Amino acid sequence: MIPPVRRPRRLRGTPAVRRLVAETRVRPAQLVLPVFVADGIAEPRPIGSLPGVVQHTLDSVRAEASRAVAAGLGGIVLFGVPEPDDKDATGSAGYAESGILNRAIAAVRAEVGDDLVIVADTCLDEFTDHGHCGVLAADGTVANDATVELYVQQAVSQAVAGTHFVSPSGMMDGQVAAIRAGLDLAGFTDVGILAYAAKYASAFYGPFREAVGSSLVGDRRAYQQDPANRREGRLEASLDELEGADILMVKPAGHYLDVLADVAAWSRVPVAAYQVSGEYAMIAAAAERGWIDRDAALLESTTAIVRAGADIVLTYAALELAGWLR
Ligand code: PBG
Repeated sequence: MIPPVRRPRRLRGTPAVRRLVAETRVRPAQLVLPVFVADGIAEPRPIGSLPGVVQHTLDSVRAEASRAVAAGLGGIVLFGVPEPDDKDATGSAGYAESGILNRAIAAVRAEVGDDLVIVADTCLDEFTDHGHCGVLAADGTVANDATVELYVQQAVSQAVAGTHFVSPSGMMDGQVAAIRAGLDLAGFTDVGILAYAAKYASAFYGPFREAVGSSLVGDRRAYQQDPANRREGRLEASLDELEGADILMVKPAGHYLDVLADVAAWSRVPVAAYQVSGEYAMIAAAAERGWIDRDAALLESTTAIVRAGADIVLTYAALELAGWLR
């Protein structure tokens, strides 16, 4: 036969040469671990649909944060799970100083100081009795501007509690600009904003709803994006950049790599992607059945997200991955 002009297999022959020429390298420092902290529990509580993930107590989340530091992770994202009786129409437990999320921020900050970037979820869905991400108008829709005012209050309370970043995830219009102004006026010019910029109304958030004991009936399609829309992801991300976001996030990650690649191509700020609960759960469940190799699938999916352009990846497997990547 005529010999091939090039033999690309030459660069695949051994682990050493593959390592040498790898275009994408995932590092623990770019991984961020999402964690849940629940009020009124004495012991960490497993989450059925997220094997290996638990609702933490204030004590156990401190230990988890220490593990994250030891593993060389980049950060930790904190979600609060209130007691059911503490939920109300305006999600007030989400911005009260005594609310579980603010207590968790303070506890983790006391534990890790500045050795790990602490990110607080800035949203009301865990704390409202109707489960929506904001307050409802008379017609039952989520009222944009009234909700944003509460996000500002929540963000300032999170800064007071000691978070490094707030992370607005409710997809209200103008939320980043309002939070930036509110933080600045309160003197928190150094607290950053990791913005859920392009966030889609996804079926892959299912296990998260269990993890936070969500009260939601229905869906979030009137404020989160339609999965059909790619261009709109660019609009949302560019607005958040203009409004002052320090980091832009695309979510979910695995089925939105096109959106992620778009944002990464022009963003002037770092770009994050969130491998959400359902993405993790699918891998975990298939692996439990012996249908796929868990470790390889987690590593491959994370590598793909970085390859598509993410500087930062939020993943429930962050600690595990860091262990393999060291
Ligand atoms: C809203 C929020 C959600 C997730 C992160 N922040 C739920 C939603 O938008 O319905 C989902 C994360 C995941 O599925 O892992 N506070």
